[in-house]
Amino acid sequence: MADKYGTDRMNDLSHDRPPLLSVETDGDIAVVRLDNPPVSATSDAVRAGLIDVVTRLDADDTVRAVVLSCAGRTFIAGGDMKEFDRPPQEPHLPDVVARIETAAKPWIAAIHGSALGGGLEIAMGCRFRVAQAGARFGLPEVTLGLIPGASGTVRTPRLTGMDLALRMATTGSPITATEALEAGLIDAVTGEDLVADAVGFARAALTRPLPPVTSERPLSPLPNGFWAEARAALPRLGHDAPLHAVESLRFASERPLTEALRHERKTFLALRSGATSCALRHVFLAERAAPRPARLKQITPRPLDRIGVIGGGTMGAGIAAACLLAGSNVILIERNAEAVEQGMQRIDDILSGAVTRGKLTPDGYDFAIASLKANTDYARLKDRDLVIEAVFEDLAVKREVFLTLSEVCGPRTVLATNTSYLDPREIVADLPHPERFIGLHFFSPAHVMKLLEIVPLPDTAQEVLATGFALGRKLNKIPVETGICEGFIGNRILKRYRAEAESLVTQGIAIPEIDAAMRDYGFRMGPFEAQDMGGLDIAFLQREGARAAGQAVPETLGDILVRAGRKGQKTRAGWYDYDKGARRPLPSTTVEALLAKQITGSRSMTRDAIATHLVATMSGEGEAILKEGVARSPADIDLVKVHGYGFPRWKGGPMHASRKQEGVSEYEEA
Ligand code: NAI
Repeated sequence: MADKYGTDRMNDLSHDRPPLLSVETDGDIAVVRLDNPPVSATSDAVRAGLIDVVTRLDADDTVRAVVLSCAGRTFIAGGDMKEFDRPPQEPHLPDVVARIETAAKPWIAAIHGSALGGGLEIAMGCRFRVAQAGARFGLPEVTLGLIPGASGTVRTPRLTGMDLALRMATTGSPITATEALEAGLIDAVTGEDLVADAVGFARAALTRPLPPVTSERPLSPLPNGFWAEARAALPRLGHDAPLHAVESLRFASERPLTEALRHERKTFLALRSGATSCALRHVFLAERAAPRPARLKQITPRPLDRIGVIGGGTMGAGIAAACLLAGSNVILIERNAEAVEQGMQRIDDILSGAVTRGKLTPDGYDFAIASLKANTDYARLKDRDLVIEAVFEDLAVKREVFLTLSEVCGPRTVLATNTSYLDPREIVADLPHPERFIGLHFFSPAHVMKLLEIVPLPDTAQEVLATGFALGRKLNKIPVETGICEGFIGNRILKRYRAEAESLVTQGIAIPEIDAAMRDYGFRMGPFEAQDMGGLDIAFLQREGARAAGQAVPETLGDILVRAGRKGQKTRAGWYDYDKGARRPLPSTTVEALLAKQITGSRSMTRDAIATHLVATMSGEGEAILKEGVARSPADIDLVKVHGYGFPRWKGGPMHASRKQEGVSEYEEA
C-alpha cells in the first residue's frame, strides 16, 4: 500500500508516536488508520482529524472508496472520558458522523475488537460495515447514566430494526458479529486479514449501485402499545437513563430525522452534566484503575497457578470455587474427613450451580473438579504458590494454622488470611518470612462478590502485595488496598453506619422508616432488614467476645434483641417479625416494647434527610479512615461500599455523594 498522508500528524503534536490518523492507498481505495491506544477513543483531536481526512479524500480524484480501520486491539470503543467533564469541543461527534455519511465517496468501517458507543455511531455513519468474527457492537452509554449522543438511537433502529436497537440502547449489552450480521447492523464478516478483506469488499461494492445512507433508510412500523411495553420491560438500573433511551428511540420512529437527532443530543448533554452520570463515571474510572495501581506497575507478581485453601466452610468453599473457575489448581484442607466431604460438597454445589445457570460449560465443570483435591494433610501444600486461610474467626485457631503453614510451605509461598476483624499482625506474629504474609479479605458469597480487600502487613513484600492484586485480576474482582484497623475499610464503615441507624431509632425515628429511606436512596435493603437477613448473632458474639476480653463495648439495641432470642430471619424475629415461611418484614410491637426504655426522643425526619444523614455518617467515617491512611483514596472507599455493601452505584459511593453535596470536586483533589 502507498503511504499517502503518513507523515501528517493531524492534530497530534507529539512526534515520538505514530500518526494519530494516517492514510494509505491500495489502488483507488484509501485506508484510513486511527492509532489512538488503548481503545481508539474519539478525542477532540480524533474528531477534528476525521473531518479533515474526509475533506481531503473527498477532494482526491484518485480515491473511489475509503476503508476506516483502527490500530491496536480494537476499533473505536467509546469516547475519551477525560473530556466528559469539560464542555464539548467542536467538531462534535454528531457532525463527524454526518460528515462521513455525506462524504462524496463511500466509507467502509473495518471493525475488530469492539465498536462501542461513539465508535458504533461512526461506523453507522459509514456506508458499509465489515467486521472480524470476534467483534462486538454495543451502545453502553446507559451504563454510564447516558444515552447515545451521536445518533445511536436514530441510526441503529434503521439498520437493526427497533427491537434490537431498544435492547442495545436500554441494557448497554453488546452483541456479537453473528447477531450483528443477521440483524443488518453489519454487511459482512471478514477473515483474519480485516483490512485486505475490507478493501476487497469496497472494490466489489463499487461495482453495484450503493445502498442508501443509514439515516435515509426507512423504519418499519411498530405494533400498537410497543412503547408502553418497552417502558414496562426496562432493566432496573436504579436511574432513568434507560427510560430516556426509550424516549429517544420513540422520537426517532415518530419525528423527522433532524428533530430526533436534536432531541437525542439535548438529552445526552443534559444527562452528561447530571449527577447520575457523573457518579457512574466516577465508579467506572475507579473500577478501571483499581486492578493495576500505578505504584505496583514495575513489580512482577508471583505465579497463581497452584492455590491452597484452608477451611471449606462458607468462605473457603466460595474462595476455592472462584479460584477453580479462574483456572487455578486448588488443594482444600479441612479438619477431618467429614469436614473434607462437606467442603467438597459445597464447592461442587457452587460449580454445578454455575453449569445450571449457563455460566460454566460441562467441560469446564469437569476441568474444575479435576483441578481440585481435598485433604486433611497440610504437607500437601508444600509447593503451593498461594495459600488462603478461611478457618474460624478465632485468633488461636488461626495462629495454629499459620504456624503449621510456615513449617510445611516453601518460603516462596504467599500466605494469606481472610480474617474479617482480627489483626493480621497478631495472627502471624513472630513467624519466619514475614514478607510473605498478607490479608486477602473476600466477601460472601466469595465466588460472586466483586470486592477483594487487600491488607498488607508492615513487612509484606511489594511483590507479595502485587500478587494480591494479580489474584484480584485473575478472579475478575475489584481489589482495594486497606490498612489495618478493626473491620478494615468496609466493615468499619458498616459498623459506624449501623450504630448511627440505631442512634436514630433511640431519637424516635421508626425502624421501617429508616429502612425505607435507605431503600428509596437506592440500597436493596435498609440497615435493619439487612441485619435480619444476615443474622444479628454474629456481630453480637463478636461484641461479647470483646467484652469478655475486657474491652469497653457499649450495649447496642441489637444486643437487647439477641438477648431476647431475636436473631433475625432465622428465628423469624429480629428487628422485625416474620410470618411463617415469608420473608416479608412486619413491624414488631415486641421490639417496640423491648426498646421502649432506649427510645427517648421524638425526632421527625424526612426519608431524604435520614438517607443524607446516614450517608454523611459513612463518609465521615471514610474521611477518618483517609486521614489515618487506612484507605489510599476516596475512590477506593467508594469502590468498597459499592462492591461489598450494596451502595447504589449511580450515587457513586458515600465519598463521592457527600463531597458532591458539599460542592467538593474529587477531580480537583486527585
Ligand atoms: P465457617 O464456619 O463457615 O467455616 C470455617 C471452616 O473452617 C469450617 O469448615 C471448619 O471446619 C474449618 N476449620 C476450622 N479450623 C480448621 C483448621 N484448623 N484446619 C482446617 N480447617 C479448619 O466460617 P466462614 O464464614 O467461612 O468464615 C471463615 C473466615 O472468613 C473467618 O475468619 C471469617 O471471619 C471470614 N469471613 C467471613 C465472611 C462471611 O460472610 N461469612 C466474610 C469475610 C470473611
